[in-house]
Amino acid sequence: MRKSNVILKEYFANVIDSVGDGVIVLDKGGLVTLMNPAAEEITGISRKQAQGNPFTAYFGEQEILLEMVDKSATTGMSISDHENLVLKKGSRITPVSASTSPLLMASGENIGIILVLRDLTNIRELEEAVRQADMLSALGTLAAGLAHEIKNPLGGIKGAAQLLERELPTGSELGEYIAVMLKEVGRVNKIVEELLDLTSPRKLRLDKISLQRILGDIILLQKRVGKRDTITFQQNFDLSIPPFLADGELLTQLFLNLVKNAVEAVETAKASGSVKITTRVVSDYSMTKKGERPSRVVAIEVSDNGPGMDHEQLEHIFTPFFTTKSKGTGLGLAICNKIVSEHRGMIKVESEPGKGTTFTVMLPLLL
Ligand SMILES: Nc1ncnc2c1ncn2[C@@H]1O[C@H](COP(=O)(O)OP(=O)(O)OP(=O)(O)O)[C@@H](O)[C@H]1O
Ligand SMILES: [Mg+2]
Repeated sequence: MRKSNVILKEYFANVIDSVGDGVIVLDKGGLVTLMNPAAEEITGISRKQAQGNPFTAYFGEQEILLEMVDKSATTGMSISDHENLVLKKGSRITPVSASTSPLLMASGENIGIILVLRDLTNIRELEEAVRQADMLSALGTLAAGLAHEIKNPLGGIKGAAQLLERELPTGSELGEYIAVMLKEVGRVNKIVEELLDLTSPRKLRLDKISLQRILGDIILLQKRVGKRDTITFQQNFDLSIPPFLADGELLTQLFLNLVKNAVEAVETAKASGSVKITTRVVSDYSMTKKGERPSRVVAIEVSDNGPGMDHEQLEHIFTPFFTTKSKGTGLGLAICNKIVSEHRGMIKVESEPGKGTTFTVMLPLLL
C-alpha cells in the first residue's frame, strides 16, 4: 500500500513537471510548496530557492499577481488569464498571462492556491508579425492609389524639365538647376516604384541562378561606385554551392540592399572599413513544411565593422520608412524581408554598437 502511494506521488510529480505552463502552488500561509520546471524557466527563480519560502519574497513587486492570489484565497474563486503581466529576469522581460485557482480538498476545505503562468513571448511575436502584415496590406492599398496620383504629375514635371533643358542656350548656368530637378524627380519615382514593389510584389520568376555570380557582380559594382577605395571587400564563397532555383533579379535586389547598407554603415564610421560576404551550405538545417521534401539551406552573411545598432534600433529596421539616413527611404530592409519570405527563407540580424553588424539570409537550396 505504501509502495503504491510512493509511486502515485511520483506519478503526480511527473505530471506537474511535464506541464508546459509554469505551475506554482502556495499553502494557506502563502509559502511556496511546489514549483515546476516551466515556472522556473519563466520566472528565473529556482524551485530549490523558492520552496518553503513566502511567495511575497520573490513576487513582492508583482502587485497584480499578489492581488490575484489574495482574491482566490479569500473568495475561493478562480481568476483566469490575466494577460498584462511582465516578469523581469535579469535584463530579459517576459510577457506572461496568469491564472489562480484555490486548491480544494475533497471535503471542500481550501488549503492553498495554484498559480499558473503562461509565457506569451511567442504569441506576442506572432501578433507583431500579423500587425506588420496588416500594416503592409493597408499600406499597399494606399500606395497603389498614391502611386498613380504621383506618377502622372511627376511625368509632367520631368517632361517640362527636359523641354526647358533643350531650350536653354548651351553652357547656361541654369542647366544645373534642371539637372537637380531631374535627379530629384528620379528619386521620387524610385520611391514610388519601390513602395509598389513592396506592397504588390510580382510573382517569383524561378530560374537556376548562380549565387557566386550574383554576389560577385554586386561587389564589382560597389567597388566601382564612388570613392570606395577606403573600403575593403572580402568574399568567402563556398564554391560547392550548385546553381539553385530562385528569382535572380530579386536576389540581386536583396543582396544589393544589404551590401549598400553595410557600405553606408562603414562609410559613416571609419576612415577604412570592411564589408564581408560569406556563403555556406547548412546541412543540418532544413526549412521545409510538413509534407514537403526536405531541402538543404544556403546561408549568406553580409557583415560590416560599422557602427552597429542598439536594441531599440534593431526593433524597427524592417519597418517600412524607418531610416536614420538623411537620404534614405527606409524601404531597403522591408523589401529584403519581403523577398526572403517569398523565397521561403529567413533573415536575421546580429549587431552590437561599436562593433558592427551581420545580416544572415537563409534560403532553401531548391535544385
Ligand atoms: N549594416 C548596418 N549597420 C548599421 N545600421 C544599419 C545597417 N543596415 C541597416 N541599418 C539601419 O537600418 C535602417 C533601415 O535600413 P533600410 O535599408 O531599410 O533603409 P535605409 O538604408 O535607411 O534607406 P534605403 O535603403 O531605402 O536607401 C538604416 O537607416 C540604418 O539605421
Ligand atoms: Mg538601405
